[in-house]
Amino acid sequence: MVKTDGFRGRDYITMLDYTREEIETMIDVALDLKRKFAVGEPHKLLDAKTLFMIFYNQSLRTRNSFEAGMTQMGGHAHFLDPGKIYAPALEGDEKAYSTERVSDVARVLARMGHGIAIRCYGDPVGWIYGRANEVINNFAHWADIPVINMECDKYHPCQALADVMTVKEKFGDYKGVRFVMSWAYSPSVHKPLAVPQSAVIGATKMGCETVLAHPKGMELDDEVIKQCKIYAEENNTSFEIMYDIEEAFEGADVVYPKAWTCREFIPPWNDKPELEKSQELFDKNKHWICDDDKMKIAGPKSLYMHCLPCDRGFEVSNSVVDGPQSIVWDQAENRLHGQKAVMALTMR
Ligand code: CP
Repeated sequence: MVKTDGFRGRDYITMLDYTREEIETMIDVALDLKRKFAVGEPHKLLDAKTLFMIFYNQSLRTRNSFEAGMTQMGGHAHFLDPGKIYAPALEGDEKAYSTERVSDVARVLARMGHGIAIRCYGDPVGWIYGRANEVINNFAHWADIPVINMECDKYHPCQALADVMTVKEKFGDYKGVRFVMSWAYSPSVHKPLAVPQSAVIGATKMGCETVLAHPKGMELDDEVIKQCKIYAEENNTSFEIMYDIEEAFEGADVVYPKAWTCREFIPPWNDKPELEKSQELFDKNKHWICDDDKMKIAGPKSLYMHCLPCDRGFEVSNSVVDGPQSIVWDQAENRLHGQKAVMALTMR
């Protein structure tokens, strides 16, 4: 039986805050909503409710899946551009008449609607790792309605939910599924750690045999790695770190190659953000591309995943992303259904 109590009013900022059983419930609800959407069965679970969405960064999938999802459930998702309101700012980062303290924005929006969703990472917080996560947690502290993380500098839990949901659809279960999260080359170093960190959290939490592969110097947050090891142990499975893309791809059921920036050049690992220094390390690793040769190593049954947008010709070849092993469109579609489940469960 699906256990749906205990969700109402909760924030969704990281998967770390939810048990494996709760994530399974979210996926069950998401699959039910996906079926209802497919057959045109009404599901106005959030009739007349409002989700406020604050985007400090650009988005295609996240914005449109939340907007479509709220429409389908009878509510409204309201888009807020920080440049067109008084940009929500933490105490100490305020600028008269152009920002407004997060505590104040959160309490105002909480009087008017039923959920607040925020995307914030990178330039808006000066590339100080953890600062965007602090902004979202500060919203959650002050708002007495659910706060949803639409991607910060640490986590992208909505992407991770769609990822594990897609794995479940393709394999039926997580046990024995070898899930390889790999770094891949991009001409842009301006990519946060949120997607790979949430992907390995999701994969280990749900019980996949998880591999994290990257060139030396592209490490993720030590706390995330520590937690993944705990999840892998709890699930009696494995979590390995590898430094060779070809070795990592051998025997993979799922490969998920994408770029992320080099943490050594952002605070707190560096005194100040010097992302351009990442470029040198990036450029030494152009061979970290997911192309036909790499997919041959993975094998014909291996599936290719990416959160999108992907950098074609750099992270991945056209032949792979557009080829028969690619499941990126299913992943993108599941953003809609996963987030509808999160909203239906928390914003009721
Ligand atoms: N994957 C993802 O979050 O896509 P957007 O940046 O388009 O929202």
